[in-house]
Amino acid sequence: MNMHSSAMAVASPLEKESAFATDVIAGLTHQPKYLSPKYFYDAAGSELFEQITVLPEYYPTRTELGILRARGGEIADIIPDGAALIEFGAGATTKVRLLLQQHDLGARLGAYVPVDISGDFLNGQAAELRRDYPRLKIHPVVADFTTPFDLPDDVKAMPKVGFFPGSTLGNFEPHEACAFLRSARAILGDGALLIIGIDLEKDEAVLRAAYNDAAGVTARFNLNLLVRINRELGANFDLSGFTHRSIYNRERYRIEMHLISRRAQTVRLLGRSITFRAGESIHTENSYKYSTDRFGALARGSGWTPLESWTDADNMFSVHALRAGETQGT
Ligand code: AVI
Repeated sequence: MNMHSSAMAVASPLEKESAFATDVIAGLTHQPKYLSPKYFYDAAGSELFEQITVLPEYYPTRTELGILRARGGEIADIIPDGAALIEFGAGATTKVRLLLQQHDLGARLGAYVPVDISGDFLNGQAAELRRDYPRLKIHPVVADFTTPFDLPDDVKAMPKVGFFPGSTLGNFEPHEACAFLRSARAILGDGALLIIGIDLEKDEAVLRAAYNDAAGVTARFNLNLLVRINRELGANFDLSGFTHRSIYNRERYRIEMHLISRRAQTVRLLGRSITFRAGESIHTENSYKYSTDRFGALARGSGWTPLESWTDADNMFSVHALRAGETQGT
C-alpha cells in the first residue's frame, strides 16, 4: 500500500507528531507526488468505501460474496475440525458469517480470531457475532495485520487457517504483497491454510467504470483524503482545485487513482508551501489485478502452495486456498 516506501523523509520535530504527518509531507514533497491509500479510511472514508461496495459498477464485493455463498461449502470442507480461523483486517463480519453458516463450520471451528487495527469496531463486531454463535470462541486481536503480531495463547495449538477476503492484497505493491504473504506464513506456521480473495484481470472498460462510478462516490472517497489532511494537519487544500482520475495501467496490471490539480496552485501544510502545476497528479492508490497464474506465482514465491481456487461464472473475481510450504516437484 505504501506505494513509494523508498522515499523516506527526515522528520522535523513538528512532523514527528504523527506518522500521518510524516507520510503526507514525504509524499507531497516527492516527485511524482503520492499519498498512501491506507489513509483513505478515516470515519468518513470508511463510510464512503461501504457505499462503494454496493455501487452498480463496483463488482468486486458482490462477486466475492456470490462466490462465498455458492462455493462456501467447498471452502468450509477444507477447514479442519478444531481449527482457528484468523481473519486479517477483519471489518464487518458479513464474509466470515457466510463461511460459518456452511457445513456446520460455526460449530466445528476451534476459534475465530479477527485481527484489526480499529479496536472499538473489532470488539463491537465480535460481540454481535458472539450473540449468534454463543459456543464459538472468539479472540479479537487489535493489531496492524501487515506487520508480525502474536496469536492468542488459546489458539496456538490449533490448526491455523488464515482468511483475507476483499482483494485488499491488490492495494499492496508486489513486494509488499510478497512480504505480507511471507509474514502471514510465519504467523500461521507450518501446515496452515490461507483463504484469500483476489480480483482478476478483465475488460478495461469494466475496470474503469468500477473506479469511476457515475454517482461520483469513488471521486468523493479519493478527495476525502484532502479533507482529512485539511482537518487533521491544518492544511488549506481547496477541494474544487482537484479532480478524481482513475486509469488502467496495462503494463502493470493495475488501476491507478490520482487527484489532479485543476490549476497551478500553492497549498499550505505544516509550515510548508506545496506547489502544484496545472494537471499535476497526486497518486493515491494502486489496485492490482491478477490472473490466476500470476497470483499462483506470487503465492509460490512467498512460501505458499496453491491448492484450489473458485471463481464466478464471468471470471471477475477469485477466492484461493493456499497451503503453507514450498511447492514440491511442480
Ligand atoms: C479495499 N480495496 C480492495 C478497494 C479496491 O478495489 O482496490 C479500494 C477501492 N478504491 C477505490 N474503490 C475501491
